Amino acid sequence: MKVLVTGGAGFIGANFVHQTIADYPQAQVTVLDKLTYAGNLSSLDGLGERVKLVVGDIADRDTVDPLVADVDLVVHFAAESHNDNSLRDPSPFIQTNLVGTFQLLEAVRRHNVRYHHISTDEVYGDLELDDPAKFTPATPYNPSSPYSASKAGSDLLVRAWVRSFGVEATISNCSNNYGPYQHIEKFIPRQITNLIDGVRPKLYGAGLNVRDWIHVRDHNTAVWAIIEKGRIGETYLIGADGELDNKSVVELILELMGHDPSDYDHVNDRPGHDLRYAIDATKLRETTGWEPRFKDFRSGLADTIAWYRDNEHWWRAQKAEVEAKYAAQGQ
Ligand code: NAD
Ligand code: DAU
Repeated sequence: MKVLVTGGAGFIGANFVHQTIADYPQAQVTVLDKLTYAGNLSSLDGLGERVKLVVGDIADRDTVDPLVADVDLVVHFAAESHNDNSLRDPSPFIQTNLVGTFQLLEAVRRHNVRYHHISTDEVYGDLELDDPAKFTPATPYNPSSPYSASKAGSDLLVRAWVRSFGVEATISNCSNNYGPYQHIEKFIPRQITNLIDGVRPKLYGAGLNVRDWIHVRDHNTAVWAIIEKGRIGETYLIGADGELDNKSVVELILELMGHDPSDYDHVNDRPGHDLRYAIDATKLRETTGWEPRFKDFRSGLADTIAWYRDNEHWWRAQKAEVEAKYAAQGQ
C-alpha cells in the first residue's frame, strides 16, 4: 500500500506517519511537505526506508501530479493551520488551503486515487457556552476566521469533486488535538514552554472559551478507521468528548508543572474568538466502531508536558520569534 501524506512534517501529519509505519507493516509512505515555519524535519527522524520525504508545495501542479500518480491513497493534512496567523495575514491560507486542495483533487481525479481530506470542526462556527448542543454532520457551515473559512471552502471543493467527477473521497472534521510534535504557537505547547522558560501562561480574554480536546493519536486512528470503513462521499466528525474551558486547561498545566494554579496572566482576546466547540461523534463510532483510547486528559497532558521537557531541541529555535509575534499584539 503506497500512501501520500501531505503535511507529514507538521503536528498531526507527523504523528500519522509514525502511527502508520508502526501499525501498517505493508505501508510505504511519501510525505509531501513545503516545510513552512510549521514543518519540522526532525519530527520524521528514525522512521527508516519506508518513509520518503519530498519537499514541495501542494499548490504546484507539477509537483503534485507525479506523486499522486504513484500511490493508492492520498491523506491530505497540509494546511496553514493557525487562526491567529490567519488574522495577521490571510493570504497563505487562501493559497495553501484552497488552491492546494484544488490541485490535489484534480490530481486524484486524473489518476483515480482514493483521497481522504483532513478538516476541522471550526467549519461549523461556534456554539453558545450554555447550549447543550454539539456539532453533527448536519450542522450548517458558518466559519468565523480566515483559517476556518478557507478550510470550509476546501471541504466544499471535495464535496463538489465527489458529486461532479466521482472522486473517491471521505472528509473528517476533528476537534482540538494535543500531544507531541505540536507547534509551540498553539495554546497547550505555548503554555508548557512558557513555564519551562519561567514565563506565566497567557489566557486570551476571560479564558471561558471551550475547546473539545482529543489526543492526536486518537484522531489518527479515527482517520484510518474512516479510510478503511467509511462510505465514499461522506463526512465524519471526530471527537472524544473532551470539552474543557481554557482557564481549566491552564490551571491543570500549572498544577502538573508544580505551580500555583492561579499563576497566569489574562491577555488581549482573539478578534472573533469562537466561544465553544463540541463534537457529536456518533456517526463515526456507529459506522466504524472506532473508540478513543486516550480518554484521561490529565494523564495525556502529563505525558505531553514530559515530551516538551525531554525534547527542548525540537522547539527551542522557534520560541523567541513566536513570543515576539504574540507580544506585538498584546498576547
Ligand atoms: P501544522 O501547522 O502543524 O502542520 C501543517 C504542515 O503542512 C506543516 O508541516 C507545513 O510545512 C505543511 N504545509 C503548509 N503549507 C504547505 C503547502 N503549501 N504545501 C505542502 N505542505 C505545506 O498543522 P496541524 O495542526 O498538524 O494540522 C494538520 C491538518 O489538520 C490541517 O489540515 C488542519 O486544518 C487539521 N486540523 C487540525 C487540528 C488541530 O487541533 N491542530 C484539528 C482539526 C483539524
Ligand atoms: O478545533 C480545531 C482547531 O483547533 C484546528 O482546526 C486548528 O488548526 C487548531 O489550531 C485549533 O484551533 P484553536 O484556535 O482552537 O487553537 P489554539 O491552540 O490557537 O487555541 C486554543 C484556545 O486557546 C483558543 O480558545 C484560544 C486560546 N488561547 C490560545 C493561545 C495561543 C489562549 O487563551 N492563549 C494562547 O496563548
